[in-house]
Amino acid sequence: MRFVSRQGLLAGLILLGMLSISPSQGSENPYTSAEECAKCHASIYQYWSESTHAKAVQGPLFPAVLGRALEISKDQAKTKKECVGCHSPTTLLTGDFELQQAVSRQGVSCDFCHTVKDVDLVHGWSPFVVDPGPIKRGPFAYTKPFKGHEAEYSALHRAKPLLCAGCHEFKNSNGFLVLSTYSEWKLSQYAGRGISCQDCHMALVPGSKVKEGLEQTASGARVVNLHRLVGGTSLGQLNRGVDLKFESVAVSGTSASVRIAVSNSGAGHRIPGGLPTKSLVLVVSAVDAAGAAGAPQERVYRRELRNSKGSTLKDLAEIFLNAQSEGEDTRLKPSETRTERFTVPLSQASRAVVARLEYRDASAAGTPPKISTITETRWELKNR
Ligand code: HEC
Ligand code: HEC
Ligand code: HEC
Ligand code: HEC
Ligand code: HEC
Repeated sequence: MRFVSRQGLLAGLILLGMLSISPSQGSENPYTSAEECAKCHASIYQYWSESTHAKAVQGPLFPAVLGRALEISKDQAKTKKECVGCHSPTTLLTGDFELQQAVSRQGVSCDFCHTVKDVDLVHGWSPFVVDPGPIKRGPFAYTKPFKGHEAEYSALHRAKPLLCAGCHEFKNSNGFLVLSTYSEWKLSQYAGRGISCQDCHMALVPGSKVKEGLEQTASGARVVNLHRLVGGTSLGQLNRGVDLKFESVAVSGTSASVRIAVSNSGAGHRIPGGLPTKSLVLVVSAVDAAGAAGAPQERVYRRELRNSKGSTLKDLAEIFLNAQSEGEDTRLKPSETRTERFTVPLSQASRAVVARLEYRDASAAGTPPKISTITETRWELKNR
């Protein structure tokens, strides 16, 4: 067992000789490549390879933001370790922060997650107790050995948010909480009800757990836990999280007083989650018979972070390194419903009021934000 923490990095690099079934890169990498796992777990591999976890150090965004972070960092070696060590956590033990080996380029990979033994958040950044080797930890308790590797039931994997919290909660060197998904979840009613990250992000989907003929779990159900782990990059997942409804529309003369309820109905943390480069925007306008919209009005839901001078940060590299305080946080809390009021100007041609929820991702500096419409709803104006 090895404890990998900022302080314990050197100690963690001392190999204890517990090599896994078939280390992929010579003898020195104790982790097995995802392609090895794919030989028996093809459908889980397929889902995982579509995840942002699998692409966490691949281009174009991560290398660009890492490059920028190194430019502004006062301690480049530490910054590289920190960024790469979380986005490709096998490097914490192998020290391959230059991503020379194939496993390192696989980001948050199979063998990292399934050999974690414990997570102790007291240890701050990278709080994982890692134990790469023949024992793969997961949600099942087996009574007989099987072909491939040893296995061990792990409550950490089955139902606990701690495995995720090891990365989805991050304090930078200013002691400021840049990523707070886990603590937001802890404050939500989902924590009290025992509904963990896996319940919402790793639903059971069609697929086989293992190659035909090797099945051990007798249930017969051809289902696996979804390893694509979608969030804001998936319209389906965004849709499961929010709800949008007109409460009332009162027309008087040339305008309408509009009340709209926006709810975080299905996310176990604030919406939008994650980084301040993401925002949720409610856009309201009147439309005519041809669908042409009048001047749109907006409400923006977003967390604003500032540096030591109090300037609002927009650049991801600066957000990770330099954030020191929070400005406004207008995001929707878990289970919160917020009523928004608008006065919408109407013309003779106005036929309806339309409300639309957009997800805007401004993570790629120097390019316009990527905008996707999550949902839209219409209120028809009578007698017009
Ligand atoms: C030679 C085939 C083979 C290979 C290669 C293989 N596995 Fe498995 N694995 C199995 C079998 C068989 C099971 C039991 C499947 C079942 O429950 O029906 C299993 C089960 C598991 C479980 C469930 C453990 C538990 O206790 O809940 C995990 C996790 C797992 N494998 C991870 C991996 C990872 C990670 C890799 C790559 C490093 C890998 N496996 C490579 C055959 C293989
Ligand atoms: C981010 C961490 C993470 C990564 C990466 C990951 N897994 Fe899993 N895996 C889990 C968790 C957590 C569960 C249990 C989910 C539950 O029971 O709710 C699981 C379940 C499993 C199971 C048991 C069958 C099932 O579907 O529940 C197998 C087998 C497995 N994973 C193999 C793999 C393989 C192979 C890869 C890479 C292709 C992989 N995992 C990548 C976290 C991960
Ligand atoms: C070793 C670190 C690590 C662990 C452990 C981890 N994640 Fe992640 N996760 C990341 C990183 C890094 C990203 C961002 C990848 C990117 O976009 O480059 C991410 C992205 C995500 C996303 C966003 C997907 C999207 O569509 O935007 C979700 C959802 C997610 N993780 C859920 C989970 C859950 C649930 C668990 C626990 C079962 C977990 N993660 C465990 C590091 C981790
Ligand atoms: C009750 C269900 C639920 C629970 C519990 C839950 N999530 Fe989510 N999560 C969602 C939904 C719905 C979304 C999509 C809305 C959004 O992007 O904010 C999401 C989005 C995300 C995103 C992407 C944020 C973005 O905007 O790109 C990450 C990362 C994430 N979740 C991680 C986690 C982690 C880590 C946990 C556990 C500590 C967790 N989630 C618990 C439902 C849930
Ligand atoms: C403790 C783990 C951790 C550390 C350290 C970390 N990140 Fe991340 N990073 C994440 C997670 C988790 C996400 C996904 C956030 C979310 O959506 O909630 C992410 C998201 C990102 C994204 C993708 C934004 C997007 O969703 O499109 C980039 C790029 C990125 N990080 C770069 C960096 C750089 C550069 C550093 C070092 C300065 C760094 N990260 C340090 C965990 C980490």
